[in-house]
Amino acid sequence: MNAVEQGFQRDLERINQIVEKNGNDRTHLIAILQDIQHEFRFLPEEVLIYLSTVMNIPLSSIYGVATFYGQFSLEPKGKFEIKVCDGTACHVRKSGVIIEAIRKKLGLTAGKKTTDDLKFTFETVSCLGACGLAPVVVINEKVYPQVTPEKISQIIDQYKNEEES
Ligand code: FES
Repeated sequence: MNAVEQGFQRDLERINQIVEKNGNDRTHLIAILQDIQHEFRFLPEEVLIYLSTVMNIPLSSIYGVATFYGQFSLEPKGKFEIKVCDGTACHVRKSGVIIEAIRKKLGLTAGKKTTDDLKFTFETVSCLGACGLAPVVVINEKVYPQVTPEKISQIIDQYKNEEES
């Protein structure tokens, strides 16, 4: 067995553990997908195919769930997930400028969400429920209030440095 096959075998063992922990029943599919997303930071196609077999659920049904909920991603995500609120309060307080600054800082062209080195994924959200702190940015659950283009540039640098040290 080569390294790729060994890696895939390890993945399958992990999937089996996740299915066993949650219970091999389609009513637990969302919880299982959440655990897989947490483990891999996205839902790999080969894992969904395997899940379809072991859970005896049509692949189309699994994709139906995986694409319905915004929490799931079929593409690899970065280690750090940057969410910028573009709801009304944040928009009024110039979240558009923050969005532009982040895209430029990360070198993300239009339509691209994740950096090539898989360190950062960037997305906009509609309201984070912290309108009094607008404009708001969240990175891996940590909330950054009243962000400016200068501030977000420094914050991203901190994450980059943290990663390199
Ligand atoms: S609109 Fe941004 S936190 Fe509510």
